[in-house]
Amino acid sequence: PMAFNPDLNLAYIPAQEIPQSYARDSRFETQPVGWNTGADFAAGVPPIAPPEVAKFLRSTLKGRLIAWDPIAREARWSVEHDNAWNGGVLSTAGGLVFQGKLNGDFAAYDAATGDKLWSHDLKSGGASGPGTFMIDGEQYVTITTGWGSAFGLSAGFAYDETVPSTVGKVVTFKLGGTGEIADPDFPMIDKTPKGEAFGDEALIAEGAVHYARNCTVCHGPLAVSSGVLPDLRWSAISGHAESFKGVVIDGNLAANGMVSFADHLTPEEVESIRAYVLAQAHAAVPADAGDN
Ligand code: HEC
Repeated sequence: PMAFNPDLNLAYIPAQEIPQSYARDSRFETQPVGWNTGADFAAGVPPIAPPEVAKFLRSTLKGRLIAWDPIAREARWSVEHDNAWNGGVLSTAGGLVFQGKLNGDFAAYDAATGDKLWSHDLKSGGASGPGTFMIDGEQYVTITTGWGSAFGLSAGFAYDETVPSTVGKVVTFKLGGTGEIADPDFPMIDKTPKGEAFGDEALIAEGAVHYARNCTVCHGPLAVSSGVLPDLRWSAISGHAESFKGVVIDGNLAANGMVSFADHLTPEEVESIRAYVLAQAHAAVPADAGDN
């Protein structure tokens, strides 16, 4: 949410830039599942993308906190953030503006000038809107933390190096508070492919298209997970055709939110996706080796 300071007549706007390559999907038809935007999510994505792609995407994501003067119709001040999907804004009568960032930095700014007056590491994503309340004359500022959401799922892999913890908390501050936020406990992931690469270039390229259309929005572009769902490259299920088909066609994990694609993909198309996922896994190994 945005916020307003009636004393200063300033509106505080959390802004962001999330560019996306856009190409019309020439074979697009409205489907009962999926995003149905008509955009071709496979456009511009090389069949096997080098790790530099994530780095490049990260460099294109921008965020900003803008103090907007609605009468002068111009920004009074603005603060640049080096990432997108940051939190909503809280404006207080005491002349402070609070905003969390996705990387966990929670800050208070001077409402009139934008000077950063205070900040604290939330040790998880600070992407929600903070609130404030008073008990027995003491004021508290509180924010829910965590990592996920549509952005985390579909674009979060661009955060690979600094991905926030998926464990969410309610974190509350007061003046002179001494509580500590526990360090996140990141699961160790065995980043090795669990199956042999297979299929020729044509099959892998076909798999890339089906993956981009049907799987990207949850499992991440280029089969690189954002840390919310299992990374298909390192999943034992990807190494085994029957198990993979069992999940994707037969809906074996439907109760956990992984729906069946039986109405949208043939078993051959699903096998092409598996070829693509394993190709991505093997392509990533030299770069990620020893980097667990
Ligand atoms: C709407 C979101 C969504 C989409 C789209 C989606 N998945 Fe999933 N997928 C999930 C969730 C949630 C899980 C985790 C289920 C669990 O915790 O057991 C999952 C798990 C999986 C697993 C099991 C991985 C493991 O190691 O446990 C496989 C394999 C898989 N998905 C393949 C695919 C493929 C292939 C596609 C595209 C055809 C796809 N998924 C599209 C949500 C999605």
